[in-house]
Order: sequence, then C-alpha cells, then structure tokens
Amino acid sequence: MLDIRNAVKVFEKGTPIEHTALNNLNLHLEPGEFVTVIGSNGAGKSTLFNAVCGTFLLNRGRIFLDGQDITYLPEHVRARTIGRVFQDPMKGTAPHMTIEENLSLAHSRSTARALSFAPAKKEIALFRDRLSEFRMGLEDRMKTKVGLLSGGQRQAVTLLMCTIVPPKLLLLDEHTAALDPATAEQVMDITKKTVEAYRLTTMMITHNISQALSTGTRTVMMDEGEILFDMSGEEREKTTVDDLMRMYSTSRKKELDNDRMLLKKE
Ligand SMILES: Nc1ncnc2c1ncn2[C@@H]1O[C@H](COP(=O)(O)OP(=O)(O)O)[C@@H](O)[C@H]1O
Ligand SMILES: [Mg+2]
Repeated sequence: MLDIRNAVKVFEKGTPIEHTALNNLNLHLEPGEFVTVIGSNGAGKSTLFNAVCGTFLLNRGRIFLDGQDITYLPEHVRARTIGRVFQDPMKGTAPHMTIEENLSLAHSRSTARALSFAPAKKEIALFRDRLSEFRMGLEDRMKTKVGLLSGGQRQAVTLLMCTIVPPKLLLLDEHTAALDPATAEQVMDITKKTVEAYRLTTMMITHNISQALSTGTRTVMMDEGEILFDMSGEEREKTTVDDLMRMYSTSRKKELDNDRMLLKKE
C-alpha cells in the first residue's frame, strides 16, 4: 500500500547546521495496517509524514502509494488520497465556515467534483449520519461555525473531513496531544472506530508509549531518521513500555529523550 524506499531528507544542506532528518529510511505498509509511531524529540516522525504528504521533496529515495510513484507529485494532489490530522485543532478546519461547509468542501475535494461548500441534500444526510456516529451531538450543530467548537470537536470534524471519502492513507500526528485527557480519549475512540469501520491504512504518531503498544496492529520506533524497531503480532503483544525503554537504551547507549513522553503503564 505505502512503500517508502531509501528516503533521505537533509535540512540546511551544505551549511554548518546541516541535519539529516530521514536517513535512508525504508518502510512498507500493507493495506489496512494501523501503525503507531514513537520516538524521541526530533527523531524525524513529523518529517516522515511531511515527506509522504509532499510538504517537501526528498533528497533521495522514492515513495509509492497503492502502486503509484508519488515521489514527485505535488502536495495538493497527494492530499486527495492522503488524509492528515495535526496536533493543533486550529489547523484542519476553516473557522469561519460552518461544520457543514467544511465537510462539503472536503467532500468535493476528495471526489474531484467542482469545489463547493454548499452541500446537496444527499450530502447533508451523509454528514449527519457520519457525525452522529461520533456521539458528540455535532449532527445537530451542522450550521455552527467551526471556530465556535472546542478543540476535541474540531479534531473530530477534521477527522471526518479526512475520511468522508475513505483516503488511501490516514496520517495522525499526535492529534490528541493538545486535548484534555477525557477529550483525548474520546477522540482516540472515534479514531479507532473510524479506522476499523473503513479499514483505513493508518499511521499515528504518539508520545504515549503505552497507547502506541495497545493501539493498531504494529509499532515502529524512529530514532535519528531511521526505524530502530518495528514490531507487530505476538512480539508486540508481549512488549511492555519498560521493555521498549530498555531496548532503546541498549541499542543507542542513551536514554530515550522525549519531554512529553508518557510512560504510563495502564
Ligand atoms: N523545515 C525544517 N527545516 C529545518 N529543520 C527541520 C525542519 N523540519 C524538521 N527539522 C529538523 O529535523 C529533525 C526532525 O524533526 P521532526 O521530524 O519534526 O521530529 P519529530 O520526531 O519530533 O516529529 C529535527 O532536528 C528538526 O529540527
Ligand atoms: Mg513531530
């Protein structure tokens, strides 16, 4: 489904602050895999997502999505089939437009119809249906401007915008990290249900290691632009947060460093 081959990204190339953010990285995802991504600050997690989305071009390497070479496709073209939710709830939606208008815009973008934010009756029924699955009461507020919603509600709308037409790939970059714990859990719950219902191929960056090990089907740990560990199945089931920390320090001869890393074991 997603195939990243020998990806290299160097920032500030040729200057004293030259930094290799992706260091010959290889990653292959099968359709329907749900991969959680962890790693220290600056490991290259967001850079990996940026590379897949086309925020910049790689210095070297290739990216294939569903058999198509997307290495040189512009970001806005990739956005038709790659959904992305950021940490910042302000990022995914247009605040001065209503829920309905935001969804309509996203829907027409993904179906490659003429851009429109005046939804048809059939669309409204679809939006209402999908919103009601979130159990946040948003289906009764479709004419509310998104700027008036809470962070969690906005993330839910963004998630729906990304999946109203199921994307080939869904990328979640710490999308619950800015929310209070109860809301974060609610948005995670919605996320899991959506991924499952549409069998979405998904990558989710999280600083919650326990959540990383218990969510989805596979966990990769990045470090210094490389994939250090990649685990799934029984191996992953048996791995605890402590095991992971130990594996990291044995392999890298240093402690895992992420100021926001959650080491909760529940
Ligand atoms: N646009 C950019 N310009 C220069 N350096 C960048 C840029 N984006 C990321 N970096 C650097 O690349 C490294 C990896 O960053 P990032 O992928 O954001 O890490 P994280 O794993 O915390 O998401 C960091 O050292 C960061 O400072
Ligand atoms: Mg990041």
